[in-house]
Amino acid sequence: MVGTAHRNTGVEGVEGGVGLTALLVAAARAIETHRHDSLAQDVYAEHFVRAAPASAGWPVRMQQVPDGDASPLWGRFARYFGLRTRVLDDFLLRSAHAEGARQVVLLGAGLDARAFRLDWPPGCVIFEIDREEVLAFKHKVLGGLSATPNAARVPIPVDLRADWVTALTDAGFDAAAPSVWLAEGLLLYLPPAAETYLIDTVDRLSTGGSALAFEVKLDKDLLECRDSPLYTSTKQQTGIDLIALFDREPRPDSVGHLAGKGWSASVHTPFDFTRRHGRGPLPEQNDALAGNRWVFANKPRA
Ligand SMILES: C[S@@+](CC[C@H](N)C(=O)[O-])C[C@H]1O[C@@H](n2cnc3c(N)ncnc32)[C@H](O)[C@@H]1O
Repeated sequence: MVGTAHRNTGVEGVEGGVGLTALLVAAARAIETHRHDSLAQDVYAEHFVRAAPASAGWPVRMQQVPDGDASPLWGRFARYFGLRTRVLDDFLLRSAHAEGARQVVLLGAGLDARAFRLDWPPGCVIFEIDREEVLAFKHKVLGGLSATPNAARVPIPVDLRADWVTALTDAGFDAAAPSVWLAEGLLLYLPPAAETYLIDTVDRLSTGGSALAFEVKLDKDLLECRDSPLYTSTKQQTGIDLIALFDREPRPDSVGHLAGKGWSASVHTPFDFTRRHGRGPLPEQNDALAGNRWVFANKPRA
């Protein structure tokens, strides 16, 4: 195993621990889908939410949220996930269509339905890495909907704290061909050693022309904002204690690490994209989102 202490041991499926966060994002995507000014469409999201006893009572439409957009959880936080989904949809599609990457690796894929809902170029393969129980739940729900992917889809049940490279290469990943990688809402839960192993591995398996996007949180904000409305309402309304699930060891400088390996990276706040799209969360006092950064990195062609 890579890394040592982990806060998320014990519960492996979507019903608890870090797996439950995949349902939280799914609920947010369901709400976003039904907004009149939707940033992203995911028709599968509400089916995941309804299928799991832990989330069956959560809202999947804004009309089901008593305080509407004023809700820190189902208003602002859900919109954050809607914006993140849209921005990363655009990143992946641009990498596949314009830059020519035909291998997409979703790290900590959770209930990400991009293989089914996005328009992929011919010959694209989507590798989905997550724990076995999470992928089994996803498979069951999508199977019940007779959902058909728009690209070859390869689920890879493996723990990212272990050696996942063998599982990925055994599943057909070709390190000699360009790839695009995504770690959306993942690194916050991994020990620093697992994050560094992940970054090193992505570099090792990426040829020139490959790309990577990931989300990090600045160290200092985590505990400072532990009483923010966003964290407290998430805990009260879903039982998910994000602060307890996040890994609290000092974070590695993954952007600097990539730069040292020759990648070019740009770092954005979510608010940059709120302004670009004209909707999404804006900064506020005691803001749990203030430390979130979205990183977009490219490995130059030789
Ligand atoms: C917040 S969810 C995000 C899911 C998806 N990327 C999305 O944005 O919809 C975090 C996901 O990371 C997965 N995850 C966390 N730690 C993991 C680990 N050690 N190995 C594999 N997957 C992990 C969880 O199972 C969960 O599905």
